[in-house]
Amino acid sequence: MARLCVNVDHVATVRQARRAREPDPVEAAKICEKSGAAGITIHLREDRRHIQHSDLERLRETVTTFLNLEMAATDEMVRIALEQRPDQVTLVPENREEITTEGGLDAIGQEAAIRRVVERLQEAGIPVSLFVDPTREQIEASARTGARLVELHTGRYCNAPEGPERDQELKSLVVESARAQELGLIVNAGHGLHYDNVVPVAAIGGMNELNIGHTIISRAIMVGLELAVREMIDLIDEGNSLSPL
Ligand code: PXP
Repeated sequence: MARLCVNVDHVATVRQARRAREPDPVEAAKICEKSGAAGITIHLREDRRHIQHSDLERLRETVTTFLNLEMAATDEMVRIALEQRPDQVTLVPENREEITTEGGLDAIGQEAAIRRVVERLQEAGIPVSLFVDPTREQIEASARTGARLVELHTGRYCNAPEGPERDQELKSLVVESARAQELGLIVNAGHGLHYDNVVPVAAIGGMNELNIGHTIISRAIMVGLELAVREMIDLIDEGNSLSPL
């Protein structure tokens, strides 16, 4: 049964736009957990453009469900993961110029390096997931690294126009999910999932976890904006009938 891990990076993106204290991804994570999310996902990027090291420390103290840390397979990040001990590490590729994670990890080209990172983390008791494109070659290479899990990149499925092209992308997800499970891997999926395209992915047999961020934070702004404006108007109205001192 697929469960939801909410990616709260975009809460930190808004905060970092003003280098302010709000909105706080830790508070957002609490609301997600209270609302039934099975876990919280964050990506601590090398350039720290949204989530900060202190967010990771605070989330490690406050998340009571499951903390999934997305990170690049670098020595710095391995050291941080070993210190902070998230419940799961998802290895992702990282390019400085990208707007968000673009392709999947190259588990074929970087098999030996990934295997070393997987070993260090899993020997320390932290299960590792590899974010890969849903292709036979990537899934087989992922299994060879010893990683316990893969996260299937759903970007191509999400970007495909509805119709035969999207159906073909969904088929790749179904087929590669089955292959991964036959090879003993637990299967997660994510990237670009929306309210209108998530159902078929949740329906894939054996799907363990869906990591979803952008669309949930976007929708939260829209469904929460009315209350936020009303509360501010109430306070301004209160001020209108008072003297300031
Ligand atoms: N999974 C991975 C590996 C990601 O890098 C991201 C984006 O940070 C997500 C899932 C969530 O993607 P989205 O924000 O499009 O839901």
